[in-house]
Amino acid sequence: MNEEFQKRVDDAIANPQNMGEMTGADSIGTVGNADCGDMLRVWVKFKEENGRKVIDKASFQSFGCETAIAAASLAMELIRGKTPEEAMKMRGEEFAKDLGPLPPTKVHCTQLVEGAIRSALDPKPYDAAPKPATPALAAPAPQGNLNESFSQSKQGVRVVFLKPQSGPQQ
Ligand code: FES
Repeated sequence: MNEEFQKRVDDAIANPQNMGEMTGADSIGTVGNADCGDMLRVWVKFKEENGRKVIDKASFQSFGCETAIAAASLAMELIRGKTPEEAMKMRGEEFAKDLGPLPPTKVHCTQLVEGAIRSALDPKPYDAAPKPATPALAAPAPQGNLNESFSQSKQGVRVVFLKPQSGPQQ
């Protein structure tokens, strides 16, 4: 990973924006990458603005790498004020553009962010692998933080697993 990219990631995660569980969220999406094992949850709250439904605020929690955290931090700000349709058109690399060119091994980290946002905005995953048959993984998404979901939930966590990406991952 080049030094300039790492410095931008370090700067972004030094003061992450909108990190943490959101109480009273209108929607939640959780995705996982089965290859690297990282997970990300996004909470979204909507508001009415000029007759349009727009994203009032969004927050995230991550069991993920620094790049995913940095990209999620940037993404939560970028989708604010957008309609769900507008936010659904955005891609992972767009969310992370302030980090500079992504090393090939980090592209999937921004796709985790994109997937979690899409999962929160559209309960039907657009680009996900088939749902696992395991009942625990097919249960409804719980309201709560990501850590509690795994440590306390008896119902399990609904996690959308993204399609494996080609190329190396770290
Ligand atoms: Fe898996 Fe970044 S999201 S290494």
